[in-house]
Amino acid sequence: MKIFTTKIQVRQYAQQLHADGKRIGFVPTMGALHLGHLSLIEQARSQCDIVISSIFVNPTQFTDPKDLDRYPRPIEADIDKLEKAGCDALFNPKVSEMYAGNEKWHLDIGELEYLLEGASRPGHYQGVMQVVNKLFDIVQPDVAFFGQKDYQQFLVISKMVELLNIPVNLVMCPIERETDGLAMSSRNVHLSPDDYRHALVLSRTLQHVKNNFNRNNMPFLKAEAFKALSEEPGVKADYFEFADGDTLLPANQNSPTIVALVAAKVGNTRLIDNMIVSR
Ligand code: PAJ
Repeated sequence: MKIFTTKIQVRQYAQQLHADGKRIGFVPTMGALHLGHLSLIEQARSQCDIVISSIFVNPTQFTDPKDLDRYPRPIEADIDKLEKAGCDALFNPKVSEMYAGNEKWHLDIGELEYLLEGASRPGHYQGVMQVVNKLFDIVQPDVAFFGQKDYQQFLVISKMVELLNIPVNLVMCPIERETDGLAMSSRNVHLSPDDYRHALVLSRTLQHVKNNFNRNNMPFLKAEAFKALSEEPGVKADYFEFADGDTLLPANQNSPTIVALVAAKVGNTRLIDNMIVSR
């Protein structure tokens, strides 16, 4: 696997690939890779000629500096996993390579920025768009792969791609879960054994509402979900919502796709999860 640390190296590599008629698949990450990330590499491999991944812990998308500091960075193990997964090239830049000092960025994407995750993490999605826009500009991918795990992030990036006319196709890949249901996340390493057990209430609750879903009982299921979350020791629900799968506004009878989304603090770790309950 090729390992690049500068923009110019990646640009040259990508230009050559395009000149050779190759289709580039791109999987941006912040590292601490798990099987969820690797499933995106797998998808990219199946749809593209060459797979480029990036590992960059992007400071502009963190609202809490402590969260940025304690973000896991096991780079050697990550390189090993990418190599084994058949990734062709890794872009692993330093912060100074990506940002020239205090840059300004703002793109108006309407309410989507402020709903759900956006409400708890002001500025987060501006930072995500800022870095993904830069990464797209450097890597010039034909297709970019993102996880359903970060459902709102996918919609935010789709909106940016539409507004800025970026020539890339986006693919949303399914959530990889542990066998007990917990959605895989780089943050799971922070869970104590007790936290881990309590964290299972998130996927269990989503599965329950999915199994019992019909378009008339959303308020009832939402109340049940909050009850289950509040009764679980060490768990503090941030939101549980049935949302329209295209806009993330509260779902209504006519929403073509309905997704249930949850965020909760488990111990000191904030976790998110979601399931599509109707389409
Ligand atoms: P990160 O949290 O490292 O996630 C990288 C990609 O992996 C995202 O598209 C995310 O949705 C996907 N992913 C995470 N857990 C997953 C799981 N259990 N199953 C399937 N896919 C999963 O998301 C980011 O990084 C950053 O915001 C980034 C887009 C790289 C911009 O900095």
